[in-house]
Amino acid sequence: MRHLIVPEDLSAHDIEAIFAVAQDLETKYDAGLREPLLPGRVLALVFEKPSLRTRVSFEAAMVHLGGSSLFLGEDTGVSSSRESIADFGRVLSEYVDGIVFRSKAHETIVALAAASSVPVINGLSDYCHPCQALADLYTLKSHVGRLAGHTLAFIGDGNNMARSLAVCCGLLGMRFVLAAPKAYQFDDAFRAHLRGLLPTADIEETTDPVAAVKGSACVYTDVWTSMGQERERAERHAALAPYQVNQKLMRHSPNALFMHCLPARRGEEVTDEVIDGPQSVVVEEAANRMHVQKGLLAWLLGSQR
Ligand code: CP
Ligand code: NVA
Repeated sequence: MRHLIVPEDLSAHDIEAIFAVAQDLETKYDAGLREPLLPGRVLALVFEKPSLRTRVSFEAAMVHLGGSSLFLGEDTGVSSSRESIADFGRVLSEYVDGIVFRSKAHETIVALAAASSVPVINGLSDYCHPCQALADLYTLKSHVGRLAGHTLAFIGDGNNMARSLAVCCGLLGMRFVLAAPKAYQFDDAFRAHLRGLLPTADIEETTDPVAAVKGSACVYTDVWTSMGQERERAERHAALAPYQVNQKLMRHSPNALFMHCLPARRGEEVTDEVIDGPQSVVVEEAANRMHVQKGLLAWLLGSQR
């Protein structure tokens, strides 16, 4: 049983295979065609946190692939003590062909996957967001061609997105640089994990955003306060303010694309000039969530059952 819980559940070869299916389906979609690769298949979407992109892109993807989806929110009792997460997963996987789970705590996805008899896809946890990182690198690839050797500079909080992109960049032979204050860089456990997983990968951390963006193919940022961290908002804002992606910073990387997973807090981690400016591909990046997830779903669910 294959799941996508963390990006390293995929190899570089798997990612290339997913991108190839996604590219084929995107070309057909642009020509007005839908390819029903998953007829009659049902995908459950279990969400403990809000979502626009992840929810809608998975729901539309399943319709285009000839299947359907079920959105399951708080009323299933997933976040309550109604039943154990193992019983929840064991039963839900009897009805559906795959489960997308957006959980508050990463451990809950791990526990659900352990109990599930169908593939589980992480639709964001506090630890990582693999589907977004895949769509980001698919977007970058469509602009630069071969990804290997290019640099992605992540400016701001070393959060779930930063961890996911560091792993995906490492897997695909890219250089990844995180520019953040020391307290918001990766923790020692994640650094040790990266060293074991990708011993030869070029993954760097710095406190200097200008040095990070120079020569990069992509300047990336995300919110300073992720979902679930709202109580830390004031201290995060104070510490991360020097890491805002604005025109002054982008002038050091005039050929880079600007990316953000969205939703954005305009005026905080990014200015209007940058997110709406000529280097920004944020809408394309959001659109690619659907194409890449179609590739992922066809790859993950197509051969099962
Ligand atoms: N980028 C992303 O995952 O957006 P949502 O939170 O709207 O799903
Ligand atoms: N880091 C953000 C990403 C949202 C898509 C969060 O977890 O809230």
